[in-house]
Amino acid sequence: MAIIKWTDEWGLGLAESDAGRREMIGLYNEIYLALKRGDSRRTLVSGLTHLLDCAESLYAEEEQMMEAAGYPMWPEHRDEHRDFLQRMRRFESTLAEGNLVIDLPVLQFMRHWLTGHLYDSDGAFGRFLARNPEALVALVAQPV
Ligand SMILES: [Fe+2]
Repeated sequence: MAIIKWTDEWGLGLAESDAGRREMIGLYNEIYLALKRGDSRRTLVSGLTHLLDCAESLYAEEEQMMEAAGYPMWPEHRDEHRDFLQRMRRFESTLAEGNLVIDLPVLQFMRHWLTGHLYDSDGAFGRFLARNPEALVALVAQPV
């Protein structure tokens, strides 16, 4: 297993939103490298917390964008976000209590989830925007 290399195929083509996706991949890579170096559990927990905070805010923005763009799959997409965050927050608590460690299977789960979600689910939204220019206009026109 290696670090995840960002590919522009995972982006929506919207600079700010894609920057958040890149950041999340970077945070995952930091956890992976910290694990390889044998860094303390505290460092790993802090890295995980940072990644989950970043994911939470990115997902909330993404859900708003999907709603504003009239993306029909947004409720299912929101549920995917919630499911991942709930699982990972539970894991984070258990880890912080010292009852668990981050190991390669856990990182593999995160890796598969993150890249699978970027490619399949976020990618589907990107393709929806590409096919529906009016949705993109509605999205760009929404108040910040
Ligand atoms: Fe998403």
